[in-house]
Amino acid sequence: MDAPAVSVDARAKRATGPIVLLGAPGAGKGTQAKLIAAHFGIPQISTGDLLRDHVRRNTPLGQQAQAIMGRGELVPDQLVCGMVEQRLAEKDCEQGFILDGFPRTVAQAQWLDGRLQAGLLRGKPAEKVPLLVIDIAIDYALLVQRLTARRTCPQCGAIYNLQSNPPHKAGVCDLDGANLITRKDDQEAVIVERLKTYERETLPLTNYYQQRGALRRIDGAGTVEQIAQAVRDLLERRGS
Ligand code: AP5
Ligand code: MG
Repeated sequence: MDAPAVSVDARAKRATGPIVLLGAPGAGKGTQAKLIAAHFGIPQISTGDLLRDHVRRNTPLGQQAQAIMGRGELVPDQLVCGMVEQRLAEKDCEQGFILDGFPRTVAQAQWLDGRLQAGLLRGKPAEKVPLLVIDIAIDYALLVQRLTARRTCPQCGAIYNLQSNPPHKAGVCDLDGANLITRKDDQEAVIVERLKTYERETLPLTNYYQQRGALRRIDGAGTVEQIAQAVRDLLERRGS
């Protein structure tokens, strides 16, 4: 009798450590973070999704964040770091986690470094693996096109694209049948502001992490599967 096959997922579910996905709005951070999370069995922590959830629930944080997000600016570091700290304290982050959209300023990156050094993951398997930062690099011309064609599921967070990844039935999530929505900040005028904010506040992080030897760059212009394969290769090489 053949030995039972070890599934890729079972092998992948080891301590991956902390992973950061960097990239401009629309680079594909959310799309790739979901695939990595499913493949390696670690949680995706999207600060954009967490903030949108606060807005939906009309919490005090959501009330502060709503107008700022609507303008394509960044929510203050202190508020976002507090929100991330709470999420990282949860048990499912022990083997590792993938941060999507955080850090987004040098101050946030310094905060994360400080928390990791101070033993945010003390005694947990993920602590032994150094931070890996993956920058999804992409030409700006593609971004507006991608973002204006994006639709998302308000219930499960699935990400679609009217051109590259449409749902089977127009306007309806394949996974749970909910009506898809267009994000409020996916209007062209706000996208332009988000790109300016990215250049000013977040782009400097590539130098920050390059100087620390943590940065790996991936071409974001390929298909979703090509990029996912490149990301898996990076993570599997690191873990071997
Ligand atoms: P956030 O939600 O993080 O938005 P973002 O960074 O602007 O990035 P997006 O979610 O728009 O793009 P993505 O890279 O995830 O691309 P996706 O995979 O969806 O933040 C929103 C706001 O919250 C911010 O503006 C700010 O106000 C606030 N905020 C969040 N984090 C913060 C922080 N740390 N500090 C302060 N404020 C913060 O893909 C885009 C589209 O392209 C989809 O339709 C997808 O299907 C398609 N696509 C993806 N990959 C491919 C591919 N390879 N080929 C073709 N199509 C593709
Ligand atoms: Mg996203």
